[in-house]
Order: sequence, then structure tokens, then C-alpha cells
Amino acid sequence: MENVVVETRDRVARIEIARLDKKNALTGAMYDAMADALAAAEADAQGRAIMIHGARDCFTAGNDLKDFLARGASGGPSAAFRFISSLPTLQKPLVAAVGGAAVGIGTTLLLHCDFVYASPGARFHMPFVSLGLVPEAASSLLLPMVAGYQRAAELLLLARPFDAAKAHAAGIVTEIVPESELLERARDTALALAALPAASVRLSKQLLKRQLGGLIAAQMEEERRHFSAQLGSPEAKEAMTAFFEKRKPDFTKFS
Ligand code: COA
Repeated sequence: MENVVVETRDRVARIEIARLDKKNALTGAMYDAMADALAAAEADAQGRAIMIHGARDCFTAGNDLKDFLARGASGGPSAAFRFISSLPTLQKPLVAAVGGAAVGIGTTLLLHCDFVYASPGARFHMPFVSLGLVPEAASSLLLPMVAGYQRAAELLLLARPFDAAKAHAAGIVTEIVPESELLERARDTALALAALPAASVRLSKQLLKRQLGGLIAAQMEEERRHFSAQLGSPEAKEAMTAFFEKRKPDFTKFS
């Protein structure tokens, strides 16, 4: 799959998002490729850690908005949900390197990572409300837990972009590292994890996540229900059409 590069080296599986002409926006085929890569990494008896990244200056602009518009019209199934729902049950540690835009799932998937490195210029954004949608990937549960309610409400309800310092203060980012060292730093951490006793890493991650599993699955399902319904709303159509027409959306015409 040309827009998702997958490679395993030194017991570390690397997933690279590579669709730079569209700011690494994720299509259904790309979600499928990433979900397949995660499943393969989990099944690889030699594999010890997984790394996910985009370019140094662009992680991902999130879900492809043309796909969203098409799904809103058709109500079709979602490859995104297959990818998203595989994140909370990953047994192997997941390390992310984030530079540039990290929009939508580009931010919410980080809440499922064990280590998140961001460059000082990374820009995070969970624009769901401003797109007529609702949060996904259990971010409506996990963000208040890591950031506290008020910070989560600000980031999710006002839906404005925020910088790496704010993401770090909110607990979304492990550490801010210079852009030139971003990928190396994430890889070093993945290699360090790969060198540790595998069962201890796996069991410790399991223990860290144990209490949350059921809650996350239930919240994801509730979010998915609202999200699918909202995708067909006139507000969502207006927001996404406005993006491609390079204008501000006008929600005042809806009651
Ligand atoms: N879906 C589809 N296409 C997208 C996209 C997305 N999520 N994000 C960017 N693109 C496309 C643009 O339409 C543009 O295509 P074009 O060259 O054919 O016109 C190209 O990628 C470059 O985007 P542009 O907006 O010009 O880049 P920028 O550097 O000015 O801004 C972003 C980058 C990420 C801030 C901006 O593109 C953006 O806000 N994208 C939408 C993010 C979004 O709402 N995602 C959904 C999350 S739920």
C-alpha cells in the first residue's frame, strides 16, 4: 500500500503514514493497511514494539474529509473504526513520533500510545465539534482522565488547534524533542523496549490498562453511534464542503 509503509527491523515494526500531497489524510484503504500492520506486528513472535509516524513536519491531517462526506451520504461501514478499535487491546508497546499537523485521529490515537514524542512545531487539533461530529477513539473518556475535565472540555468542545507545549501539559505527549531528533528518539525508545524482557513488558502494559478495557470499548461504541449519525447531519456536510471550498462554514442557517 503506497500511502502506508510498513517495515520490521530489529524487532520493531514501523508504520509510516505517507500521503504528503494530502497532508497524510487517511483513506479507508490506509486505515485497513494500518490495522493489518498492527495485527501482523501483534502476531509476530519475534516483534517487541511498534512505532508509528508520518513525515517530520506532518503526522496526519486525520480522516480524509472526502471519505467522510461520502460516508455521510451512504452511511457505509468504517475502516477507521476497525483501526481505532484495535488500538486499546494492543499487547505490544506503541511509540509515536509527531511532527507538524496531528488532526482528529492524529491526536486521539496518541491517547492509546505508550510513548509520544512531539517536535516543538507539532500542531494538535481535535476538530470534531467544529465539523458537526463528536469525539472518537474513546477520547471523550481518556482525555478527561489524562488532562482533567476542564482541559479536555476546552480542547474537545472549543475544538481549536493547540501546540506541543499545551499537548505536553495536557499529558498527551511524553516529551518534546527537536524536530531533527524526532524519529531517532522514538526509534531509540522502541529499541530500548525491544531489549527488555518481553513477557515483563507485555504483562506490565496489560496491568497498566487492565481496569480501563471495558470502559474504553463501551465509550468507543457510544461515540461510534453518535459519530455515524452526525456524519449525515447538515452541519457536518456544511463544515466539510466549506473546507474544500476554502471558506468558513456557516452554521447559523441550521436550527
Ligand atoms: N481530507 C482530505 N484532504 C485533505 C485533508 C483531509 N483531512 N487535509 C488536507 N487535505 C488536502 C487539502 O484539501 C489540500 O488538497 P489540494 O492541494 O488538492 O487542495 C492538501 O491536502 C493540502 O492541504 P492544505 O489545507 O492546503 O494544507 P495546510 O498546510 O494549509 O493545512 C491542515 C494543513 C492539516 C491544517 C489542513 O489541511 C486541515 O485543517 N485539514 C483538515 C483536517 C481535518 O479536519 N481532518 C478531519 C479530522 S476528524
